[in-house]
Amino acid sequence: MNPIAQELNAVLSAQNPALLEMLSDMGKRLFFPKGILTQGAEAKEKAFAANATIGIAMEHHRTMHFQSLMDQVNEIPPEESLTYAPSFGIPALRNAWQAELFAKNPTLSGKRISLPVVTCGVTHGVSTFADLWVDPGDTLVLPDKMWGNYNMIFSVKKGAKIVTFPLFSGSGGFNLKGFEEALRKEAVSGKVIPILNFPNNPTGYSPNRAEGEAIVNILRGLAEEGIRVVVAFDDAYFGLFYDDAVFPESLFAALAQSHPNILAVKLDGATKENFVWGLRVGFITYGCKADGDIARVYEALEKKTAGCIRGTVSNAPHLSQTLLLRSMGDRRYAAEKKEKFEILKQRALRVREVLKQGRYQDAWEAYPFNSGYFMCLRLKKMDAEALRVHLLEKYGVGLISIGDRDLRVAFSCLEEGEIQDLFDQILAGVRDLSRGGA
Ligand SMILES: Cc1ncc(COP(=O)(O)O)c(C=O)c1O
Repeated sequence: MNPIAQELNAVLSAQNPALLEMLSDMGKRLFFPKGILTQGAEAKEKAFAANATIGIAMEHHRTMHFQSLMDQVNEIPPEESLTYAPSFGIPALRNAWQAELFAKNPTLSGKRISLPVVTCGVTHGVSTFADLWVDPGDTLVLPDKMWGNYNMIFSVKKGAKIVTFPLFSGSGGFNLKGFEEALRKEAVSGKVIPILNFPNNPTGYSPNRAEGEAIVNILRGLAEEGIRVVVAFDDAYFGLFYDDAVFPESLFAALAQSHPNILAVKLDGATKENFVWGLRVGFITYGCKADGDIARVYEALEKKTAGCIRGTVSNAPHLSQTLLLRSMGDRRYAAEKKEKFEILKQRALRVREVLKQGRYQDAWEAYPFNSGYFMCLRLKKMDAEALRVHLLEKYGVGLISIGDRDLRVAFSCLEEGEIQDLFDQILAGVRDLSRGGA
């Protein structure tokens, strides 16, 4: 094992040995290399005559560039857009995102969390989490309604196993009993890895306060019994909560620094929260407890994480990070965020209102939803894929079928005035197929 990795592992082992045990084999081997990157950083500080270290190109002592490209981003100099960002992400953005995490999650007040490490979107955050904390053969606990890409990341690529529990209980809330049972079954191995995604894709569900507290208590209970709990929160759609009953924070905030056996990992991003999907900026943030110096623990985890990024995409796009940072510092930012939130909320409320109409009752039931971009219909007697294809072909309506019976609607993409028509078209499609026609 590389000596730098050994040093980082020694830090973790001295401050909280449970953390070292929780790391995957790859996580244990990971480190942030000194080599070119640190030599380049040293040269940046001291090489006043000539800096010929990094693999970019210079001209007249400025970053070489095409004017045809820079004209498109005229406010931003090449040094803040074309050059490489650090594998950790640009420091000002990491600080700004951390400050937002504290502002958005008051429960974090008084707690210490790591600086967020910048990823290429939340997908890359999930995959980096998998590299650091999941070994082939490990089992992850997820609800049965989940983002399909988890299969690709955890099962296909990592060789881990996913076990699911029904997301909803019989009464329509979060299935606390099923969640705890699934965890307890896996706890015999001494380690559990639940992934919690709220607002949930595909259903648009987020837990209410009582459910949120109960989830936290279940995980704390396991930790107190000596089980290592590595819990990831996929907060891709964080903050899009449309109902006062919803737990208004990430459960990461409650679990960060709550027990030495709990490692809470927050995976979030500007992609969905700030509506910049293609800019590919996500974050991975840690919250854990240590006896000694927590700053050293976070530094070790951030270095391992940045080392993993260095070995995959090297770094997230500098231009994207600068655009986001500048937007977050703009005086219009807060108002823009609120305005877009209100638009999505009005659409969600309109969907709820439309769905109350009795004529849909025979065709489907809507899963509970209170947040995010999506809602999901459970078709009563219709194959979801057959209906999807029919709706597309006859009505030009595009939806996503999931499994045999579920149809996902991204109301985030619909104008409020289009919502009634959409559900009427789905109903027409159901009736066409029930009659055996097309
Ligand atoms: C639950 C969930 N997590 C992560 C992602 C990926 O987000 P990103 O575009 O930031 O990679 C998605 C996107 O579809 C998602 O639904």
